Amino acid sequence: ALAGCSSSGAGASGSKTIKVGFAQEGAESGWRTANTKSLQAALDSSNGFKLNFSDAQQKQENQIAAIRSFITQGVQAIVFAPVVETGWTDVLKQAKQAKIPVILEDRDVDAADHQYIASRVGDDFEKEGETACKWIVDNFAGKSANMVVLQGTAGSSAANDRTTGCGKVMKGSDINVLDQQDGNFTRAQGKTVMEGFLQKYGSKINILFAQNDDMGLGALDAIKAAGMTPGKDIQIITIDGTHDGLTALSNGQFNYVVECNPLLGDQVAQVVKDVVAGKKVDKLYLAKDEAFDQAAAKQALPTRKY
Ligand code: AHR
Repeated sequence: ALAGCSSSGAGASGSKTIKVGFAQEGAESGWRTANTKSLQAALDSSNGFKLNFSDAQQKQENQIAAIRSFITQGVQAIVFAPVVETGWTDVLKQAKQAKIPVILEDRDVDAADHQYIASRVGDDFEKEGETACKWIVDNFAGKSANMVVLQGTAGSSAANDRTTGCGKVMKGSDINVLDQQDGNFTRAQGKTVMEGFLQKYGSKINILFAQNDDMGLGALDAIKAAGMTPGKDIQIITIDGTHDGLTALSNGQFNYVVECNPLLGDQVAQVVKDVVAGKKVDKLYLAKDEAFDQAAAKQALPTRKY
């Protein structure tokens, strides 16, 4: 359930079809696949929408081009998940001039650009970072432990806010952050960056904080190849709570997973419908996120939706 949520998804009955453009930022992770499916299902013709979908392959220039093309096509609303936080002012001004409302899903843009945004439906990334690192502090404080961090896409609000949230709770603890680098939220880069950490710091590393499941899953291969046991020699904390992430947790390869809910489609559809109908909407709708230890993962897996 989403806080501030009014009612069910957009209904087609008695209303005209809404033309909507959705500029997704990429297809980099299991989370993203679930998010795209959720949006596509909710912005479907059976719900009263005509959807134009575009995948920017994690490139801001592609996403800007997609938004410009939606403006030219004269869609009634634009939904997008900004790959990074900054650099949107020009295209957002263009949408405003064309009187096309813009709704953010998932990630945020710079606060200075909030004036151009009708609403955002997403997760509280800072809180996710705080929850993940509070578990680390609770379990490792006083042990002079060494941690490495696989950060998400540089400049994305998901990576920026998770880093901020983590920093807040780590402040004053004796946990030593050996290194933090960008793994772009992908398995492949998670593996490569972890290989570099292991070459540099070897068995000094006690903790890996991966800012999403996929980077953590990629790192598993690097850790095993270095002759270490993930979950034991190096404790692993991740964010997302995908089926694959919770499976690694239930197997004891991960140690703690914080949820980031990707199933935002119904709420986005409702907001688009309301905005197009001229109704007042909240500026922000945040999903409720849980956190999992091994026992909770085992319990959740059989009915996990993504
Ligand atoms: O913006 C949300 C993040 O983006 C998810 O944690 C990650 O898996 C995705 O790529």
